[in-house]
Amino acid sequence: MATQAPRELDDGNSIPPLGFGTWPLKGDEAARVVEMALRAGYRLIDTAARYDNEEAVGQGLRASGIARSEVFVTTKLRGADHGYDATLRAFDASARRLGLESVDLYLIHWPLPGRDLYVDSWRAFVRLREEGRVRSVGVSNFEPEHIQRLVMETGVMPVVNQVELHPDFAQQALREDAAARGILVEAWSPLGQGGDLLKREVITRLAKKYGRSPAQIILRWHVELGDVPIPKSQNPQRMRENLEVFDFRLDADDLAALATLDRGHRLGGDPKVYVEL
Ligand code: A2P
Repeated sequence: MATQAPRELDDGNSIPPLGFGTWPLKGDEAARVVEMALRAGYRLIDTAARYDNEEAVGQGLRASGIARSEVFVTTKLRGADHGYDATLRAFDASARRLGLESVDLYLIHWPLPGRDLYVDSWRAFVRLREEGRVRSVGVSNFEPEHIQRLVMETGVMPVVNQVELHPDFAQQALREDAAARGILVEAWSPLGQGGDLLKREVITRLAKKYGRSPAQIILRWHVELGDVPIPKSQNPQRMRENLEVFDFRLDADDLAALATLDRGHRLGGDPKVYVEL
């Protein structure tokens, strides 16, 4: 496997430069796929209370035989558990399901501005970090205005914002805002959920130019942009292929060609209005 130098977070911790997304895997299949991903070389596993697969992720982690200290585990707080006390209880439940004492990164899954409790949850996150149960604290699907509010009310900046990000939805303004705040951006649905995006002419042309697959071109684009993509694949060959993006580079012309794909097209919810069920 080509080298995957870790990325540094603003709190001094480090994170692998590419991870494995587990949505929508569940049950025995999720456990088996997570074990396979770890054996293939993934060292960042991304789950969420909402995915209903934390137990399976924990099983896969133990079955892999890879030391806990070698794996970066992320989970997320679901909307129903926003609020200070509810967040502390929710974290305990997630850790118990995972079978872990602590997690490497805990994220508020969605801001849910209509409920207006994310700042209270954030205070609980800060406590969990102080207690050593969570190594790094971050957010997911937060717009700059939500991050600004956290900072104004608590003085604590998230170190990660995990958002929908792929060539169809390149999130330039959000990425620039994050860079200015020292926040590392993680990309969910980095392959645009594997749909038509993989067949765009620019992508197939670059795939041919570099002798790579369309997915590898897109994942390399993420690496060049500076985000951490977390592709999901349950297919052993595609899973391995998605890791092999650290031994080639895209040039400035390629990046300019890929930038033309941005249509501002979301596949998922808009954080300003999205309500988790
Ligand atoms: P599969 O699990 O059968 O490989 P995203 O991470 O953007 O949500 O994309 C996930 C989707 O993309 C899944 O449907 C996955 O299917 C597919 N996918 C993952 N890796 C590749 C790849 N290298 N080539 C084509 N499709 C892929």
